[in-house]
Amino acid sequence: MEWLGYIGRWGHILAAITWIGTSFYFNWLDLSERPPKSKTLKPNVVGEVHEIHGGSFYYHERFWPTEDNPRTLAHSGPAQLTFLTGLFLMFHIYWLGADVYLVDTIEPLMTPLSAIMVSALILVVPWLIYDFLCKSTDDDTVVLVCMIVVVTILSYLSTWVFSPRAAFVHVGSALGTAMAANVYFQIIPNHIKMRKQVKKFEPVNLNFHKLAKRRSQHNNYMTLPVLFSMVSVHFPLGSANNWSWLILVLVMGSGFTIRHYRNIKLATDVNKPSLALLAFCLLCGGIALSYVPPTTSVQNLSDLNETDLKVYNIIQTRCSVCHAAVPTQKGFASAPGGVRFETLAQILVRKDQIYTQTIAADLMPPGNLTKMTNIERAALGDWLSSQGAAVIPNEE
Ligand code: HEC
Repeated sequence: MEWLGYIGRWGHILAAITWIGTSFYFNWLDLSERPPKSKTLKPNVVGEVHEIHGGSFYYHERFWPTEDNPRTLAHSGPAQLTFLTGLFLMFHIYWLGADVYLVDTIEPLMTPLSAIMVSALILVVPWLIYDFLCKSTDDDTVVLVCMIVVVTILSYLSTWVFSPRAAFVHVGSALGTAMAANVYFQIIPNHIKMRKQVKKFEPVNLNFHKLAKRRSQHNNYMTLPVLFSMVSVHFPLGSANNWSWLILVLVMGSGFTIRHYRNIKLATDVNKPSLALLAFCLLCGGIALSYVPPTTSVQNLSDLNETDLKVYNIIQTRCSVCHAAVPTQKGFASAPGGVRFETLAQILVRKDQIYTQTIAADLMPPGNLTKMTNIERAALGDWLSSQGAAVIPNEE
């Protein structure tokens, strides 16, 4: 299972780099092209770009074909592969491990099964809304304003329903799904129509071009927000507190603005410092909000029996210096991995994981920083197996 996780991530990152790399390159090419200064190779050239890369000189022309172009290549595989590997990771990490990774283990709101259903809806519904908006209006400002509202609601809903880590990933996955759907349902079909026209020696219908270009540009603007949500998994600070929904919206807004700043610069050679400043302020807003300490959960000690209390206390001294809403261990700004052990319920929900990390292997506490004794480890191991943790047989 763990190897499947590695391979899934490997494929996902590779496909995403290839997709976004190509897409960013073509966006750059489009915005950097200027009207041709001298005679061109093809007829109907709208723009040209001269480049030097990897020790070679390159020359590109963007043109409207007047004859069959059998060698016209398409790049849609990486987008589909990114979506499929992403879906696999969603299934592997968040649906199979819904009880630990998907539901909010700090304050569970729903059963793992209901959470999986919400998760699946979150992947699809935002795309349907976005697609409807694009088909209803040609005004991208209207689409943008509506989508800011959609993403804000989505962010609030996800952080309310899911674990902090899953919440951030879901908002990104919803946008990522919209990006892949743009490629699959809009960009590619319009390319196919354009290619058919070229094959029949008909002039290209610029409407198909406009439809494909519009969605492609939207994808370009969604990239930085999506990437932030994907890497946020490794940095629990942003997703750990009560304002995490707003932090996500602000930082995603900053990513969007950085892209806009850059695109304007490429297309017009004009620097818009106001946009750079806005992106910076949005990012600072997110960072500032992450300083608000999260609410700590409290365990009523009189609810615990003697054995539970003994183990609870071991975990408090050896683990919760790091694994708490506000860690006391130096160097930890927030609970590592979003894993908190402030109540017995929070410990029980991760009993299998604790067994793997602490009893089957000596991974936790890292480097035995909190000096957990062998007697404590044995007591914790016995208690975990008595609670039905998935115990590795030869360790029993
Ligand atoms: C010095 C700080 C520290 C202490 C003490 C500590 N941990 Fe951790 N713990 C971490 C870090 C860092 C991670 C990795 C988080 C990540 O993957 O982003 C982690 C991750 C975990 C995970 C999640 C692993 C996964 O697969 O996601 C579990 C479970 C865990 N620790 C249990 C424990 C237990 C049980 C103890 C006490 C016996 C303990 N930790 C003590 C720092 C600590």
